[in-house]
Amino acid sequence: MMSLETLLENMWVDYCKLNPDAKKIYDLFTAQGETVLNDHIALRTFNHPRLGIESLAQHFKKWGYVEKGDYHFIEKKLYAKHYEHPNEKMPKIFISELELEKVSPFIRDTVNKLVEQVPDAIIAKEDFAMAGRPWKMTYELYAQLAKESEYASWVAAYGFRPNHFTVYINNLEKFSDIKVLNDFVKGKGFVLNASGGEIKGTTADYLEQSSTMASEIPVKFDDGTHSIPGCYYEFAKRYPLADGKLYQGFVAKSADKIFESTNRIQK
Ligand code: NI
Repeated sequence: MMSLETLLENMWVDYCKLNPDAKKIYDLFTAQGETVLNDHIALRTFNHPRLGIESLAQHFKKWGYVEKGDYHFIEKKLYAKHYEHPNEKMPKIFISELELEKVSPFIRDTVNKLVEQVPDAIIAKEDFAMAGRPWKMTYELYAQLAKESEYASWVAAYGFRPNHFTVYINNLEKFSDIKVLNDFVKGKGFVLNASGGEIKGTTADYLEQSSTMASEIPVKFDDGTHSIPGCYYEFAKRYPLADGKLYQGFVAKSADKIFESTNRIQK
């Protein structure tokens, strides 16, 4: 079994291929003398019996991760759980799944056909979380899925890859204020997700978050290469609960807006 550190490093390298901006922003922080820790890493899947949250979580549990909170996103038809590691320096793992019983028959039938193409051996791999796209996919089908669910189209196009890494703001020195951090990132030319305001959540939620918008990257489909949104980089600041301990959960109404960071920009 590979070490957790190796897996997370491999996932970071894979993620930077889908989001070259993340590496640039990471480097800007380290150039300022900052040590960048990750608050969480997010993964996406479908709630098909073979590919639900547990298909990804099972591997992280072997490294000691424990299930903590769960979250519902009614409008987007998503359900999510988050996992924590006993070593607090390790990022939380946030896994969401599209609820296939709630989407249209078109999406449900399409996803069922995709899942049929996934060999058990891929799901059983300890680095399944970065296995890539294990099914055939055309740009035409991707675009059809996106009309109803941006989330479904993203998973259909990329398969299993880290959706985003999240800078843990509390560990930064010069950028411990999310507004200061946002202004710094924007000042370097990156676009932030403004859906619901740039800062999602308040101190009353014990969690403030912001994120870049995913820039488009070329993806190979069976009917040619097309540029589509890749991954975004997120920033999270946590606040202490009444007992003095930092809140470790997530805020559904904030995450709901953050999901939109991979939406296609309307042209
Ligand atoms: Ni996140």
